[in-house]
Amino acid sequence: MSERPTKAVLRVLNGEPVWPLPIWIMRQAGRYLPEYRATRSQAGSFLDLCYNPRLAEEVTLQPIRRFGFDASILFSDILVIPHALGQDVRFVENEGPKLDPVTSSKDFPRLADELPLERLDPVFETLDRLSRSLPKETTLLGFCGAPWTVASYMIAGKGTPDQAPARLTAYRDPAFMDALIDRLVRASTAYLIRQIDAGAEAVQIFESFGSALPPALFDRLSLDPIRRMVDGLKQARPQAKAIVFVRGGGANLHRFAAAGIGDALALDWTLDPAVVLPTLPNTVATQGNLDPLALIAGGEALTQGVDHVLAAARGRPHIFNLGHGILPETPIEHVERMIARVRGA
Ligand code: CP3
Repeated sequence: MSERPTKAVLRVLNGEPVWPLPIWIMRQAGRYLPEYRATRSQAGSFLDLCYNPRLAEEVTLQPIRRFGFDASILFSDILVIPHALGQDVRFVENEGPKLDPVTSSKDFPRLADELPLERLDPVFETLDRLSRSLPKETTLLGFCGAPWTVASYMIAGKGTPDQAPARLTAYRDPAFMDALIDRLVRASTAYLIRQIDAGAEAVQIFESFGSALPPALFDRLSLDPIRRMVDGLKQARPQAKAIVFVRGGGANLHRFAAAGIGDALALDWTLDPAVVLPTLPNTVATQGNLDPLALIAGGEALTQGVDHVLAAARGRPHIFNLGHGILPETPIEHVERMIARVRGA
């Protein structure tokens, strides 16, 4: 018999329904917490914080100490991959990420072909520290961005409304786009494997811009690359669990489920779990999907939103989460109310 996990999140990722639902939230370490803002102001730049193992461990632990979430997600960012590949990446206060755009194969000499993993040693050290400092019931999650989401930042050099620069590049210069995606698949797979070796028990792949892709590009730029990453991870580390979050996944979620990609599929807030969950096989776990704005609003919006997820998820392997990251203006009391309602159900 293989060993059965005892941590609630890992049990769900093994396909077991657990009640009350285990809970964590995307971006749980962040600016809505005063203790995060305090550590952040000591650290210097945002990337300095990501690459400082002592401080990154500290901000990762903050939401665990305060709320006792069932999973702890490594504090880092999806853009450390382009940074480690050699692209210039800065986080400009109140503007978000800025990168020197990579727009054609002529820019490839500026980027490493293989990920120089040692540049990310501080991230692995953060995971190693966390695997020793977290409470024994807390699951440690690693993560990375999906190739399309990361590529869209690399090409535009910043966040863009519908990822128009990257989409246009995919049509005009398919050879470059495919080569960039391939490089990101290889780099991200190596990165996830190393995260597992450093102590992560499961990983989440963030396809934050899945909604921008038309059907003609979805398989090529999102589904197939994510499949290659999950396959590569599991071939190398069969015990590793993978959660796939496709924002704007809509009907495509079923294509991930049908292709057996990932141990859990995370729903964004636009999907109705009462409709979607019964149509997914019971063997695939799910995660989500309270609207982060219902969490800001509180009151009835919060109560009804939580209860709707709970009713839909009862009896299924499901991890309670938001449908996207928590926003800085979220009142802490609302987070406490959400957790109490999930745990008191
Ligand atoms: O969830 C967690 O607590 C782990 C940490 C985490 C961060 N970013 C910290 C962060 C994770 C998992 C991410 C992923 C990430 N980063 C995504 C995918 C998830 C999603 O939200 O869709 C994306 C698209 C990024 C890129 C990114 N990083 C943007 C667009 C920004 C600026 C937006 C903003 O809120 O300012 C960041 C910066 C960032 N990453 C912050 C944090 C806590 C805020 C920076 C700060 O403290 O000043």
